[in-house]
Amino acid sequence: MSALEQERAAALLSWYRIQRRHLPWRDTGSPYDVLVSEIMLQQTQVDRVIPYFERWMEQYPTVADLAEASLAETLAIWSGLGYNNRCKRLHETARIVAGDGWPTSIEGLQELPGVGAYTARAIAAFALGQHVAAVDTNLRRVLSRWYGEPLRGRALDVAAHQSLAEPAGDWNQAMMDLGATICRSHQPACTQCPVESWCAGPGMILDVPRQTKFEGSTRQVRGAVIRALVRQAPQSIAELVAATQFPTSSVIEATTSLAADGLIETQDSVVRLCD
Ligand code: ADE
Repeated sequence: MSALEQERAAALLSWYRIQRRHLPWRDTGSPYDVLVSEIMLQQTQVDRVIPYFERWMEQYPTVADLAEASLAETLAIWSGLGYNNRCKRLHETARIVAGDGWPTSIEGLQELPGVGAYTARAIAAFALGQHVAAVDTNLRRVLSRWYGEPLRGRALDVAAHQSLAEPAGDWNQAMMDLGATICRSHQPACTQCPVESWCAGPGMILDVPRQTKFEGSTRQVRGAVIRALVRQAPQSIAELVAATQFPTSSVIEATTSLAADGLIETQDSVVRLCD
């Protein structure tokens, strides 16, 4: 780590100690809390996640509690947060971990359903105290601005590793807070930035892949079908059409894809959530 990188990391960590966001999954040191929060935070804003995370933890305070629950029960708690496949994979992961224990390496964590490179690194840094950077789109944007070039691949890994400071958990959370509150994608607040003196500048506006339009999408119909089945199950396709107010063809498309993903099952022409 160069002198510049050391000064920048020290300024970042001092700022974080004062300005940090107090989020319910922070500082618990529990791999389960980190796993649940990181899975919920995939494609979903922090403010929307907080009430779901709190309800989830009341219902399933430990990985063993989650492993014992049925999938249908967990989907009822998850319903409304979206991308219900995340719930199914989280449930599968809980059953694996409840039986075998937590993997202790990034490679082992990445073998768990729903745990990709970023989430494995987040668990390693936040809960296992490992010296790793969890690089998501926010960190990529911040690092690219610091280094003055759009970083990707190996160059991005090298920049992250060179900039990473101890405690690695705090450094990663500080980078997330900086990216969310100051080094925003559009209109970054550089005058309020604690590391402006060590940054090449905000010129680096990176393209962020847009989420597909939600209104009328299969994802929207899938969500409506799950909510209808949480309220009342089993239901026929005709009943689901009435409950969701979507066209029959869309409901059939959504139920087919939900069944293929193992979230629902059809028996004797009625649909219900999988156990
Ligand atoms: N986005 C993804 N993970 C996060 C975390 N741990 N804190 C805040 N925002 C996040």
